[in-house]
Amino acid sequence: MCGIIGYIGRRNAVPILISSLKRLEYRGYDSAGIAFFMNGRIEMRRCAGKIKDLESSIKGQRLRGPLGIGHTRWATHGRPTEENAHPHRAGGVVVVHNGIIENYLELKESLIKRGHRFRSETDTEVACHLISSCLQKGLNLEEATREALRHIRGAYALAIISESEPDKIIAVKKDSPLVIGLGRDEFFVASDIPAFLNHTRDVVIPDNGEIAVVTGQGVRFTDMDGRPLKKKTLRITWSPRMAEKGGYRHFMLKEIFEQPRAIADTIRGRVFPEKGEVNLKEFSLDSRMLRGFKKIFLVACGTSWHAALVGKYMIEGMARVPCEVDIASEFRYRRPIIPEDCLVIVITQSGETADTLAAQREARRQGAMVLSICNVVGSTSSREADAVFYTHSGPEIGVASTKAFTSQLVALYILSIALARARGVLDAAEAVELFNELLSLPEKVEKALGLNDYIKKIARRFYKVRDFLYLGRGINYPIALEGALKLKEISYIHAEGYPAGEMKHGPIALIDDNVPVLTIVPNDELYEKMLSNIEEVRSRGGRVIAVTTGDNKRISDVASWTIFLPESNYYLMPVIFSIPMHLLAYHIAVLRKCNVDQPRNLAKSVTVE
Ligand code: AGP
Repeated sequence: MCGIIGYIGRRNAVPILISSLKRLEYRGYDSAGIAFFMNGRIEMRRCAGKIKDLESSIKGQRLRGPLGIGHTRWATHGRPTEENAHPHRAGGVVVVHNGIIENYLELKESLIKRGHRFRSETDTEVACHLISSCLQKGLNLEEATREALRHIRGAYALAIISESEPDKIIAVKKDSPLVIGLGRDEFFVASDIPAFLNHTRDVVIPDNGEIAVVTGQGVRFTDMDGRPLKKKTLRITWSPRMAEKGGYRHFMLKEIFEQPRAIADTIRGRVFPEKGEVNLKEFSLDSRMLRGFKKIFLVACGTSWHAALVGKYMIEGMARVPCEVDIASEFRYRRPIIPEDCLVIVITQSGETADTLAAQREARRQGAMVLSICNVVGSTSSREADAVFYTHSGPEIGVASTKAFTSQLVALYILSIALARARGVLDAAEAVELFNELLSLPEKVEKALGLNDYIKKIARRFYKVRDFLYLGRGINYPIALEGALKLKEISYIHAEGYPAGEMKHGPIALIDDNVPVLTIVPNDELYEKMLSNIEEVRSRGGRVIAVTTGDNKRISDVASWTIFLPESNYYLMPVIFSIPMHLLAYHIAVLRKCNVDQPRNLAKSVTVE
């Protein structure tokens, strides 16, 4: 996610903005910039790349001012270039933003019709123009901000300054993090506490829809109607390092718990749930193209390949389009036959995985259309694809992929519905139902995360084992593979994922009381078969952890441990089943004192073949 910072006080803002942005670097970014008052005007300095590049660009310049804002950009709309770097400006209004303005395209069109000229590809620039146009109606900066926000849909944490009122910063949030730091005659606005923790430990955390008016004399809070609010000051006791992880012990745990927001952000702006339609504009796809695809290839590596396997069930199940799934490192060597009118979907969190890029190039060479489901704007995969569906899960720092994986599943679900609607195999009413279930997913994932302590208890019983078997069927067989991969890559325990129906064809020979078996048991037509698989394991002395949904009471009679999850539809249960997979692997790895965020021998992005 992006990082924003604002400073107003008795010291020079410029070095404080730079050092505070450095403390937000861990959030991941690809460009940076600052804006500050100097001699009554707002100066801006921005660059693509890192903060050290920004520092070199201003080296030797005597830049001083008591007030300023800054930004590290994790691109969601528009490539990582200087033009797209924040801050953005319209007239005398300058803004930094973290979040996604869902309706930016329609707002941009209407502002252009009113004569506004845009310089960037970003959604954020719309906010400056809206506020500037409200100022021109005679409103002050606080009122203009309030008026502009009435037109904006989406998620935002904004810090706003204007040449018309050089003594204040306006800060506002909705579904995107924002904290206010209260120093001694100086005040801070930021996305996250680490940005100013070395200056003050006294913070105020605004709620959604609350506006902070920050001056050198203090901070005033109001609601969206201008009514004053009294806010509680909190005293932060974290160390700076702990604060980077939001108080979590590891980035992986923080990212596991970020999944409700990551899923909500990946959905945001992509669907029109009340109409049962998908917003295809962003993906440069249209219904005619979606109708024309005769076959779809899904190609990826590792965890992303598991997402591809789930995607096959979604696309064939909902849209009835034949799908083929390939491991990217195998794809180009098997001399794939890619007929005309095929779509190749590559799935890659980093957008830089060498094998996936090679597969993507082979598909392009054979004339196929390539869609990349990717988490990094401007990455190689996204630049070389014909169309991109960005998962907005934010930077994923832990090597073991968690929030990016579940965001990939959500992206595939949305694409499957788009395909099904375009091909007339899903009517609007059915699509509305599928979207309603999707919109309730973040809350269900939140509930599943609430089982963390129980899963930690289970981890204590199994962290010394040497082998682990994960079983699943149908659309949840890939989740058994994913659970096993999570465990092996961070705890170094040998783990295998298997289709449950395959047990009697070999793996059952492995079973004894040293080989725990985790079974994924959805409440579907394969439930009884999963129950008999559990019996097969138990009768050979195996210990079973059953992961099921809320009303399978029979299961706890046969399993040693049962994890009851919230229920969703067939296609979204893989997202919910992933949560205990992540948590169990995490807690076992911690108990084994493994380096959870940087496991041995692994890299976050495998950029070599
Ligand atoms: C997942 O936990 C692993 N880190 C790894 O399998 C990863 O999914 C794989 O390397 C693919 O990476 P990508 O999604 O960035 O292409």
